[in-house]
Amino acid sequence: MAKPRKNRGLVAALLLCAAPLASAFDDTQIEALITKMTPEEKAGQLTLVAAVYEHEPSDNERQPGEPTAMQRQLNEIREGRISAVFNGIGANWARQLQRAAVEQSRLKIPVLISVDAIHGFHTIYPVPLAEAASWDPALAERVARATAVEATAAGVAWNLAPNVDIARDARWGRGVEGAGEDVLLASRFAAARVRGYQKGGRLADDDAMMATPKHFAGYGGAEGGLDYNVVDISERTLREVYLPPFKAAFDAGAGAVMAGFHEIGGIPAMANSALLDGVLRREWQYPGLVISDYAADHELVEHGVAADDRAAVKLAFMAGVDMSMTSRLYQQYLPELVASGDVPMTRLDQAVRRVLRAKRNLGLFDRPYGRMDTAREKRFSHTADMRALARESATRAIVMLKNDHDLLPLPRTGKRLALIGPLAGGPADLNGPWTVFDDRHDAVSVEAGLRAAIADPTLLSVTRGSDIDAPLEGGIAAAVAAAAAADVVVLAIGEGEAMSGEAQSRTEIVIPAAQQALAEAVAATGKPLVVLLRTGRALALTGAVRDADATLVTWFLGAETGHAIADVLFGTVSPSGRLPVSFPQASGQVPYYYAHKSTGRPPPPGPLKEYTARYRELTAAPLYAFGHGLSYSTIEYSAPALSARTMPWNGRLKASATIRNTGPRAVDETAQLYVHDRVASVTRPVRELKNFLRVHLAPGESREVSFELSRADLEFIGTELKPVAEPGEFDLWIAPSAVDGSATQFTLMPPL
Ligand code: NOJ
Repeated sequence: MAKPRKNRGLVAALLLCAAPLASAFDDTQIEALITKMTPEEKAGQLTLVAAVYEHEPSDNERQPGEPTAMQRQLNEIREGRISAVFNGIGANWARQLQRAAVEQSRLKIPVLISVDAIHGFHTIYPVPLAEAASWDPALAERVARATAVEATAAGVAWNLAPNVDIARDARWGRGVEGAGEDVLLASRFAAARVRGYQKGGRLADDDAMMATPKHFAGYGGAEGGLDYNVVDISERTLREVYLPPFKAAFDAGAGAVMAGFHEIGGIPAMANSALLDGVLRREWQYPGLVISDYAADHELVEHGVAADDRAAVKLAFMAGVDMSMTSRLYQQYLPELVASGDVPMTRLDQAVRRVLRAKRNLGLFDRPYGRMDTAREKRFSHTADMRALARESATRAIVMLKNDHDLLPLPRTGKRLALIGPLAGGPADLNGPWTVFDDRHDAVSVEAGLRAAIADPTLLSVTRGSDIDAPLEGGIAAAVAAAAAADVVVLAIGEGEAMSGEAQSRTEIVIPAAQQALAEAVAATGKPLVVLLRTGRALALTGAVRDADATLVTWFLGAETGHAIADVLFGTVSPSGRLPVSFPQASGQVPYYYAHKSTGRPPPPGPLKEYTARYRELTAAPLYAFGHGLSYSTIEYSAPALSARTMPWNGRLKASATIRNTGPRAVDETAQLYVHDRVASVTRPVRELKNFLRVHLAPGESREVSFELSRADLEFIGTELKPVAEPGEFDLWIAPSAVDGSATQFTLMPPL
């Protein structure tokens, strides 16, 4: 949590109210409340609507004497027709809603305020995919904690995050919201983010908010990478790849979950009782709240599994979706569905019970105004500590793909720098997609960051060169002139922030043509070229961009973008990010991920070989592998050593390697443990990440990194669709990426 620097009294007060609160409102009181509720009030508790404020534009069209939108919303709360409100903020605003709920409604049930705080609230941190490039779940937990501190101070008690969807098709725009392609990495980040938002279980504290892993389940598997599209994956893939991050989030205590917009195997996620009831409730014994996505209950009509909204409500509700977002269809139809016997009252009560328990767990019955304190709001908004964390997390998210001839770090003085490209300035395109309450004029552009870092600002020229996806008249000529007059070109290019996120799928994962042309022209000057690659997804880099002397993937880094880039560019910090997604060579290779299967015709490394599983034009190798990322030093790995050649069925095995910093700089290295099951009853990926460790190495320093493995690490979804481990031979690597390192072997012994 970000601590205020001054005012110890306030810290003490916060610590006091941060002591775990056993709610005075117990299950018996919840049951007593349920018995008092009318079906309309129950349906109201299952209704989440979008926030409105004073002076909504729609207010101008109302007839004299008609209530404003805000008055109507407050009335609905008084009447018990609304349970929760999302994407509205402000301690004072929230207080008005809470007063209507706990002082003016019949049953005095507190209202729940929720937001989409995907990578920060006011203070914006790197997009989640970028944060995953830190390979540091503890950092993600701190960012989630700081996000919760800032959001809860503005009235929020519930976050519609984290997105825990695995994304293996870079065309899909929502990969930017998650933690990338890998099951283990995504699971660790899912759990860390939940812990951060929920304060590690102290949910009733005023600075904790309920987390909502989403979108249950398999949403990232959309066909063609097209958002909202059909998902048709096997149950094995679902269980092995897409479900584990959800399980990790629930094991970390996530209080809610959101069902996705998509259909999976012919059944929309919103109506998928096999998933919502079978997996979630029965198999995992998940006790929390299931909510819909935005009007996704109504969308069952569009999917063609419900004839009308009434049928859609029955389908979604009976499949297990407890709360409806924005459509108000539960409010509208549930009372009559219960009256007609189409929906049992017991199911209605069960859903209401889950909502009331969530509110109770958040401490809302005891302290309904706890998160609605204007003094706290002021104190915990945009704090210096949050800003420092934004810079730290942003520097750690940067991945250096290449650095020929040690072009980086750049000297702070003595060289003329030409900063060129549509992403050189700001304030647009810095924060990235999915910010709702950010103040984007606060964000530091690359230009501002570089200016602040260099000794002589007259040595920096800045030229736009092109727009994000259109040429600028005279832009290329100006850029070429600037490059010619400089010693080093820093090219800030890539995707605009509207190019990833919800509904932002792309057919080709490339640099937009206007910027590619700019890069080619600038590169033709022959000046040393550094590319700063801003992106919300893996990109297939070609031509001058691929061949630049040095490339830093900067993703969308948020409020401290420019400072973080300058920190890395000038070597205050050595880059330590690692790719959480593979970069393919071409768009046509997607979905593309390192943990693929062998096929019966695996392409050999090296030149193309006919009749193997590869495209005509390309080798199967990635342009940059999952896990790849360079630093300002050189690191050598020894071959992995094992404590034994065999792992007993109920035993453990230690795998270790010596890692040596052979270069001139102190750096952080992330050692990655991969395994491959050589022969199994089900085909297995060529490699799977099983663990990783970040170590700090001084120049010349050697350290042993070691990992313990047990049978659980070797499990997979067997022929019966249950987790199994099978005795046999395994390959093991401790390596700096998913394609590096030398393998050693061990055998998992059968049970005695
Ligand atoms: C739709 C998105 O799919 C979901 O992730 C988000 O929480 C809701 N909109 C609310 O903004």
